[in-house]
Amino acid sequence: MHLYHTATIHTYRQFEQLIWLSVKAASLARHAQPGQVALVRHSQPGLDPLLWTTLFLAGADPATGTVEFLIDPRDPAVIWLSDLSPGTALDLCVPGGKHFSLKPTTQTLLLAGTGAALPALLFLARQQAGRQNIALFMAGDTGFLPPPFLLPPTVEIQISQAGEATLFDLLTSSPQSPLRWADQIGLALPPTMLALAANVIRSTRLRWQPGLAQVVVAGSLPCGIGVCRACQIETRHGWQRRCVEGPVFDLYDLRLSL
Ligand code: FES
Repeated sequence: MHLYHTATIHTYRQFEQLIWLSVKAASLARHAQPGQVALVRHSQPGLDPLLWTTLFLAGADPATGTVEFLIDPRDPAVIWLSDLSPGTALDLCVPGGKHFSLKPTTQTLLLAGTGAALPALLFLARQQAGRQNIALFMAGDTGFLPPPFLLPPTVEIQISQAGEATLFDLLTSSPQSPLRWADQIGLALPPTMLALAANVIRSTRLRWQPGLAQVVVAGSLPCGIGVCRACQIETRHGWQRRCVEGPVFDLYDLRLSL
């Protein structure tokens, strides 16, 4: 897949406080995968060519040649996108790092997330609906969570609107928590919640083997091409760059301070 793409803004929609942005980028829509991130900037000459905004893909439709993003206007790094008109040209840089990958044997898929990487789980749930039994758990603030109607009706959705920190309370509150029985788990989290996620899984599953839980890690990617090393995360295989070796990692592989 190409690293750089030219796109034009197609449509905006407002879902409570969130902005749903669809852009025409046919070459990207053909190959985009859940978990991938796009660095976005205005194509207009004169604006700072070094300023890239990091956004996780929320969906892609090869038939219409569009890719989708979900924008939280509280984030000052992304708000500029909501002021542009349809037709505005954008540059996209999409690092070819690791995206979510599911085992062929997976039948039940648990997705759980919060924050800026959460759109990656929407993409995964929409792509996999009908192939697996999917439960999607989301936590955040009232008005800032993706509306359930964006997802196919076969996806079971659980939402906490009491803030990001309540995600694992939501996940563990029932004795029937899907954490116990899911064949695979897909997480979307900020770095500050990774250790808690590992603890919860370790205390819930009798055996935790590599491949059980993949996590897409939120955070900005200043260069996006592996040069600046500002995005490193420590793993069992040494320090790795989220933009090149991630942004999706096996949670089992991460070295986390508890
Ligand atoms: S963003 Fe620069 S190395 Fe990853």
